[in-house]
Amino acid sequence: MKTTISVIKADIGSVSGHCVTHPELMERCDEVLDGALETGIIEDYYITRCGDDIDLIMTHRKGELNEEVHKTAYDAFLYATERARELKLYGAGQDLLEDTFSGNVKGMGPGCAEIEFKERKSDPVLVYCCDKTEPGAFNLPLYKIFADPFNTAGLVIDPKLHEGFSFEVYDVMEHKKVILDCPEEMYDLLALIGSTGRYMIKRVLNKKGDVAASVTTDVLKLIGGKYKGKDDPVAIVRAQSGFPANGECVEPFAFPHMVTGWMRGSHNGPLMPVAEADARPIRFDGPPRVLGLGFQVSDAKLVGPVDLFDDPAFDETRRQANQVANYIRRHGPFEPHRLPSEDMEYSSLPGVIEKLVPRFEDIK
Ligand code: F6R
Ligand code: MG
Ligand code: MG
Repeated sequence: MKTTISVIKADIGSVSGHCVTHPELMERCDEVLDGALETGIIEDYYITRCGDDIDLIMTHRKGELNEEVHKTAYDAFLYATERARELKLYGAGQDLLEDTFSGNVKGMGPGCAEIEFKERKSDPVLVYCCDKTEPGAFNLPLYKIFADPFNTAGLVIDPKLHEGFSFEVYDVMEHKKVILDCPEEMYDLLALIGSTGRYMIKRVLNKKGDVAASVTTDVLKLIGGKYKGKDDPVAIVRAQSGFPANGECVEPFAFPHMVTGWMRGSHNGPLMPVAEADARPIRFDGPPRVLGLGFQVSDAKLVGPVDLFDDPAFDETRRQANQVANYIRRHGPFEPHRLPSEDMEYSSLPGVIEKLVPRFEDIK
């Protein structure tokens, strides 16, 4: 019998602006998921939050895109949203674009990453949750985990990893996808995924077709063509015994790489790996955060988690992220801190230009 891990996340309201969700919202989600546990819809769950996003980590036997599982998550978010509205939390119900549920959460606002798999003798599964950034933020770390031998020693020295992995890449502008094999097509892969706002790694598979990683790639601003909320992503990564080791899966996050998001979704800044307790983006609404939770999945139950970045070995990364944040913040409204105008989630630029049109003169 196969096991599915589903992570469904949404921002449904937070305290102190877009800073941190409220514990009562998590309690309400807990109530709903507990009910689903009793009725056998899910087998186990763990609820966390990264900044203003609630992440529902669920295990079950029902496969991907299952209506009952997705409805459970949506119901939890709706129920918690009622409380968010009573408390007048900031952005209450922000990511719930529809009042009525239809089939699965795709296109309804919440982000979703899932992997169905046959459990091995022992099955470590890692979940990464971000706030104040976009799905393309996972392109670099996933590339390093599954394709870079300078990160993942196993690609060179473990015969089970030596064949490499395949990357399923979404073009979110054209709604197309392509699968590229590594190491054979590494340069083609990099040519795409370096454009993090357009090409996003959706899944990574081994050469036998087992899914090793899955990412939320829901881009809300593209649903209906305008800004409708946030796309703070999550990723699920399977580790060990034929997949990269736990340590190889966290290693890329020791480099606080530049991602898009931060203030008003319109700035570049470093991705800071943090413990669960520190997943509270405050400075300039950031800098962007990632938290990591390491589980063992055992007969569809979640054992753990280990708080993966609650480790002094990541202190230096955080210090470096702060230095980078200080440096890039000094650019204020200038690129490359501020995004090019066409990429900004909020932009007053068209209005400013329109106002100035009558005053623009030809340059002779
Ligand atoms: C970024 C984010 C925040 C808000 C900012 C302005 O992902 O959520 O930086 O964009 O706080 O929020 P509003 O427009 O709601 O005042
Ligand atoms: Mg918010
Ligand atoms: Mg958020």
